[in-house]
Amino acid sequence: MTTTPHKIRIGVLISGSGTNLQAIIDRCESGEIDGTVVCVISNKASAFGLERARNHGIPALHLDHRLHADRTDYDATLVALLREHGVDLVVLAGFMRIVTPTLLDAFPNRVMNIHPALLPSFPGLDAQRQALEYGVKVSGCTVHFVDSGTDTGPIILQSVVPVREDDTEETLSERIHVEEHKLYPAAIQLFARGRLTVVGRRVRINEE
Ligand code: GAR
Repeated sequence: MTTTPHKIRIGVLISGSGTNLQAIIDRCESGEIDGTVVCVISNKASAFGLERARNHGIPALHLDHRLHADRTDYDATLVALLREHGVDLVVLAGFMRIVTPTLLDAFPNRVMNIHPALLPSFPGLDAQRQALEYGVKVSGCTVHFVDSGTDTGPIILQSVVPVREDDTEETLSERIHVEEHKLYPAAIQLFARGRLTVVGRRVRINEE
C-alpha cells in the first residue's frame, strides 16, 4: 500500500521577478516537492512574481513596507498573514528586506533564503558584482536557514558556478539563476521530507 506523503504548506516572500518562485511552484505541481505554495507576499506591488502566483491560483498579496512604522511592525503583519494561511515553511525568494526576530521567532529554523554567491563570501547586495570585482574563479548559490544576521544562517545546500573570462554581471547572474532553480527546490524537498537537522552552525542531511 502506498501512502500519500504529508505536504508542507509553503509561504513565499518576494520583491521582484520571481523566477525562483516559479521553479518552486512548478516542482510542487509536478510532485517533486511534497508541498504546496499557499501564499505569495511581496513588499512591491509591481513584482512580477505576484502575477506568476495568480496564474497558478495562489493567493498573491502586496504588503507595502512604507505603510508600516518599522521593520518589527511590518514583520508582525507578515507573521499574522503567514499564520492565517497555515504556513509551515517561509521561503525568501529574492525578498530584498532584512527580516527581524519577530518573523524568525515565529518560525524557528523554518525560514529559508537563497543567495547568489557561495556564502560566507559576498553577502548582502550585488553578490554577483562583488564576485566579479574580487576576481574569484568560481561562485555559485547558497540556500540557508535565516538567522538574525545578513546571509549568515546555517547552510543547507550550495552549488558551484565557474566564472568565465568574459563574464559580465548579467551572464554570471543568468548561469547562477539556472542553478538556483534546481538548488532551492532540492533544499525545500529535504525540509519537506523532514531530513534537515540544525546542529549549531551545521545542517545535517539525514538519510530517508
Ligand atoms: C536571486 O538570484 C536570489 O539569489 C537573489 O535575488 C534573485 C531573485 O531572483 N537574492 C538575493 O540577492 C538576496 N540577498 P528571482 O526573483 O528571479 O527569483
